[in-house]
Amino acid sequence: MAFLDKHAILEKSPTLLLTFSLIVVSIGGIVEIAPLFWLENTIEEVEGVRPYSPLELTGRDIYVREGCYNCHSQMIRPMRDEVERYGHYSLAAESMYDHPFQWGSKRTGPDLARVGNRYSNAWHVDHLRDPQAVVPESVMPKYAFLETTPAKAEYVDDLMSTHRFVGVPYDDEDIAQAKLDFRAQADPDSDTSGLLERYPGAAVANFDDQPGISEMDALIAYLQVLGTMVDFSTFTPDASR
Ligand code: HEC
Repeated sequence: MAFLDKHAILEKSPTLLLTFSLIVVSIGGIVEIAPLFWLENTIEEVEGVRPYSPLELTGRDIYVREGCYNCHSQMIRPMRDEVERYGHYSLAAESMYDHPFQWGSKRTGPDLARVGNRYSNAWHVDHLRDPQAVVPESVMPKYAFLETTPAKAEYVDDLMSTHRFVGVPYDDEDIAQAKLDFRAQADPDSDTSGLLERYPGAAVANFDDQPGISEMDALIAYLQVLGTMVDFSTFTPDASR
């Protein structure tokens, strides 16, 4: 008890109280931060997660440009209601190639982290063109103009170089083939062997069913890959990391 009584000394001297508070807070801070300097990697690598294909990456830029993240999150929390509604909770690895990440902070519409393969391309075209035609009470704006706006491959290799600069592992070959891969993914009649080798599982289609590659094509290519990279029938989380 005598030792605990000494606490009164600290409480009566603001300078001492401040000094000791700082010491306690620094210990807490060091314990949290220091291990990050020694860990090789703080993200558990998961099989199947790959960088976005050139067309998907272009679609992702349109998603960001249009502010879709203001109404949609891409982060399924590990709670029962979320997992039952949206699917397996999001893994850190699933957004490791997202710069910037699209976790979002508000759900006016549903979470999109696993929207890939949930609807057909035609559904997405109808919905993006006029959401109220599909869901009458929807407050989502219409994005019909994406159909008539061509998506340009002109700068897609620069876009990929920028992502490489911040750590996405695109190699020289990926960047050299970017414009070809961009067109191949939107054309089911093209030779897609190179594309699928570089980006396994990429959806190949004329997404909007119209000639030419529109921003609608690119955006749907992006939406269709969301949450589909990891095969959850074989995935077991490693709790030791
Ligand atoms: C003003 C808020 C708002 C914005 C901005 C918005 N959405 Fe939505 N979105 C909604 C709402 C509300 C719904 C649910 C009703 C519906 O399906 O339309 C929805 C539904 C969706 C769905 C169906 C999801 C599901 O699981 O059923 C997709 C896909 C989608 N939005 C994509 C987008 C994309 C892509 C953009 C940007 C181009 C976007 N949204 C912008 C509000 C928004």
